[in-house]
Amino acid sequence: MGVSLKKAGIYAGFLFLGIFFLNPPISGYPKGPVQYVTNAGPFCASCHSVADPEYLRDLPSEKIPEQLIEYKHYKAIRDGKGPYEQVSPEDRARLLEDVRMVDINAKVSIQAPQSTKPGETIKVTVTTQGGAGPVIGIMLVDINLRDQASPVSATGWEILEAPQVIGPDGKSQTWWLDKRLPELKKNINFILVNGIKSDLAEKTFPEARVIYTLKAPQTPGEYTLTAAFLYGTEKASQIGLKGGILGPSGRILFSEVVKVRVE
Ligand code: HEC
Repeated sequence: MGVSLKKAGIYAGFLFLGIFFLNPPISGYPKGPVQYVTNAGPFCASCHSVADPEYLRDLPSEKIPEQLIEYKHYKAIRDGKGPYEQVSPEDRARLLEDVRMVDINAKVSIQAPQSTKPGETIKVTVTTQGGAGPVIGIMLVDINLRDQASPVSATGWEILEAPQVIGPDGKSQTWWLDKRLPELKKNINFILVNGIKSDLAEKTFPEARVIYTLKAPQTPGEYTLTAAFLYGTEKASQIGLKGGILGPSGRILFSEVVKVRVE
């Protein structure tokens, strides 16, 4: 009896460990959220750290600091909290330096005409630099709010065709939109770009570009457009935890918010 209870305990232990390793307690999408080939907003990336308090201005002010890069990620590394408990102080110092370098060199910009006519076609170009890779995410949205931004199509713009994606090698890439089922149109606001690899030793931070073709809303007025840039940091560091998926090492950064008058 005693023996079989002990055996049962051992089996239960193995079962627990198995479940634990198959489903680690915190987990992102190791190579980006590759199954969500659809319109999306940055609210889904709630465990990413946020680059600017502006993006959380809808939250009570005491809730904002804990979401920012400085607190959510850098401080956790510095203090050896949570997943960083297992990392030595020297490695944490190095990791902090590495992720800061990724952040300093991560950029996103947007280009759009200042005005257009109702129903007219315009091009909007989003350009990113950096991100750990292997992929980065770009979403064309209406406003720079993590939790309330909508895909541009929600404010009356129509994405007319498959966005054109230029990878870091300067070549056009379609792997992402090719994942859409053949019966679905490819005119979505969310794009993953692959082939990204920021090299901290070489100080190279690859560029990517997405060109959207939009049809202007029918209702005249002033509209805002911005791009959300979703990227990882720890995969660029040799010390990044388990491929960078255990800590709050994802990021949300927005481009400038541009105004387009439809008149
Ligand atoms: C459970 C936490 C979590 C959630 C939820 C999450 N992410 Fe992430 N994401 C991460 C982490 C951690 C990384 C950073 C990996 C690194 O540092 O290299 C990351 C990285 C990324 C990357 C860059 C690719 C990479 O692997 O570095 C993209 C793009 C991304 N996330 C998009 C999204 C989108 C879109 C959503 C919503 C559908 C989302 N994430 C939801 C944790 C999350």
